[in-house]
Amino acid sequence: MPDSRSPIGVFDSGVGGLTVLKALIERLPRESTVYLGDTARVPYGTKSAEVVTRYSLKNAELLMEHGIKALVVACNTASAVALPALEKALSIPVVGVIEAGAVTAAKVSATGKVAVIGTPGTIASGAYQRALAATRAWQEMRVKSCPLFVPLAEEGWTEGPVPTLVAKEYLTGFIDSGIDTLVLGCTHYPLLRGVVQHVVGPSVTLVDSGKATAERVETLLKSAGMLNDGSTPVNRKFLVTDVPERFLEVSARFLGQRLTSAQQVDLKFS
Ligand code: DGL
Repeated sequence: MPDSRSPIGVFDSGVGGLTVLKALIERLPRESTVYLGDTARVPYGTKSAEVVTRYSLKNAELLMEHGIKALVVACNTASAVALPALEKALSIPVVGVIEAGAVTAAKVSATGKVAVIGTPGTIASGAYQRALAATRAWQEMRVKSCPLFVPLAEEGWTEGPVPTLVAKEYLTGFIDSGIDTLVLGCTHYPLLRGVVQHVVGPSVTLVDSGKATAERVETLLKSAGMLNDGSTPVNRKFLVTDVPERFLEVSARFLGQRLTSAQQVDLKFS
C-alpha cells in the first residue's frame, strides 16, 4: 500500500508533461516523483480517444508498479478522453489537468468570456467545454485546436517571426469581443506563452493548467494526510518508451533543467 512517502506518478505522451512536473516540483518540492513519457507513441493529440485511452491505461499500469500514491495525467489529450477509464481502473487518486484549468479560468474571468486552445483530440472531446460549463455561467466560450504549436515548442521555436505568424493565424479574430481569459489546454503551450500573450494582447489572462493542477494535487494529498513530511530524501525517476536521447535533449526547455538520464521501458501491449 502506498503511504505519504510514496512517489507521485506523472505521465504524458512525451516531453510536454515536464511543464506540469515543473509546476508540481515548484509547489511540492518534498514529494518524490516518477515521470513516464510515452515517447514511442507521441503524439496523442491527433489520435482517437480509443487509442489514447488504451495507451493511458498502460502508462498507469506501469507507474502503479512503482508504488505511486497518486497519478497526475499531465497530458491534456489523455485527461480529456481517458480520465473515467483511469479512475475506474485505479485505487489511488487520479488528477487530470482539465478540471483544474477550468476552475482557474472560472475564477479569473471578469467578462465571462473564455477561450480554450488545445490539440485536435482535446478540443474534439468537448472535455474543456464540459468542465468549464460545470464551473459557472459563461457569456461566451470559444475553442480552437492549434496543432502546429506542439512541433514548434519541441523544436524550440518559441519566439521570433515563425511562431508569431502561426499564433496570429490561429488566434487573430478568434480572441476578440471581450474574451479576457485564454486557457493553454496543452502541455506544450506554456512554452509559447510570450508569443501567445503578444498576439492576444495584455488584457487577456493566460491560464496554465499545470500550475492549477499542482495546487489541486496539494489540496488532495493534504486532505488525505498523504503529503510527504520531508523526512526521506526526494527521488526523481524519469522513464521513456523510446530511446532517451531526444527526450533528454529537449528536457531543459520544458523542465527548466537538462536531464542527464532517463530509463527506457517497455509498455508490453498484448
Ligand atoms: N501532451 C499533449 C497534450 O497536452 C500534446 C502532445 C501530443 O499531442 O501528444 O495534449
